[in-house]
Amino acid sequence: MKVLITGGCGQIGSHIAELMLTRGDEVLVIDNLATGRREHLGDDPKLRVVIDSIANKELVDSLVADFLPDVIVHTAASYKDPNDWYNDTLTNCVGGANIISAAKVHGVGRFIYFQTALCYGVKPLQQPIRLDHPKFPANSSYAITKTANEDFLEISGIDFVTFRLANVVGPRNVSGPLPIFYQRLSDGKPCFVTKARRDFVFVKDLARAVLQAANGVGQGTYHFSSGTDVAIKDLYDEVVEAMALSQYPEPDIRDLGPDDAFSILLDPSRTLEDFGPIQFTSMKDTVRAAIEYFQEYGVHGGYTHLKLDERK
Ligand SMILES: NC(=O)c1ccc[n+]([C@@H]2O[C@H](COP(=O)([O-])OP(=O)(O)OC[C@H]3O[C@@H](n4cnc5c(N)ncnc54)[C@H](O)[C@@H]3O)[C@@H](O)[C@H]2O)c1
Repeated sequence: MKVLITGGCGQIGSHIAELMLTRGDEVLVIDNLATGRREHLGDDPKLRVVIDSIANKELVDSLVADFLPDVIVHTAASYKDPNDWYNDTLTNCVGGANIISAAKVHGVGRFIYFQTALCYGVKPLQQPIRLDHPKFPANSSYAITKTANEDFLEISGIDFVTFRLANVVGPRNVSGPLPIFYQRLSDGKPCFVTKARRDFVFVKDLARAVLQAANGVGQGTYHFSSGTDVAIKDLYDEVVEAMALSQYPEPDIRDLGPDDAFSILLDPSRTLEDFGPIQFTSMKDTVRAAIEYFQEYGVHGGYTHLKLDERK
């Protein structure tokens, strides 16, 4: 199988690329290294990595025309500065439209997308959130532009699978609480945790489901979730344990901010029906794998999609 992976040097894209290369697929990656790292992918005769942006329409058209992928796995996204509306729009809307249009023109058989749970807003109407929950993305530049990309895909007529995700973590994770906790604890700085609960999944569990989707399983929109949420404090405790610190650094427990949801939990029923039972890795093993990665490679990022000033 020939697979084009946008954002293939990122957390999710690189794990998918590795699995595909292991089973003998030909993989073409395009990544501008905004948040990804070239070292996330080794060298492989069946891998080609193009360092450029999906906003480059001519390049995207020629890559798709020449490579003629069977599947496009579109993980590239811009999110690292909540005030950088320009780059979020350029990558997520213009770049997203470029990739979808090229897929359409060149008859790519399958398209896989990754949507944020922030598309449901920061105050979802249900817990767990069902797939028919309305989209309320007007909470961040990231959610607005990622939702536009998903909307383009939905009207494209292409055979697609969208995985809507809450928090995907593990090695190479650059956003959300894990890299922030690790970095602060390594620097001997105090951490705060809110009373929120979140839905975490291990990146390698998602990558396996993406391979199933590339093989033809599923159609349309899915939640990739274990169906359970975890208190942020429990996640923090797992990080402390995995780092084997000599003393437990007591975190500052804070109330939820006005924009914070108590829980964002996605209902995975349709995914389990269509993809079959999924072996979800435990939180302990997930955190351990992420910490081992940070210990070896350091933290690059520590981004959050909503408010940067909360970390002070
Ligand atoms: N990780 C999560 O918790 C999570 C949750 C919801 C949705 N998602 C979605 O999953 C996808 C992958 O996320 P991730 O965690 O791997 O993030 P990531 O930052 O590790 O990967 C994104 C990759 O896209 C690349 N990229 C950014 N702009 C680009 C451009 N213009 N052209 C080419 N490449 C570009 C980055 O350099 C990076 O390698 C994204 O679409 C994201 O919106 C992730």
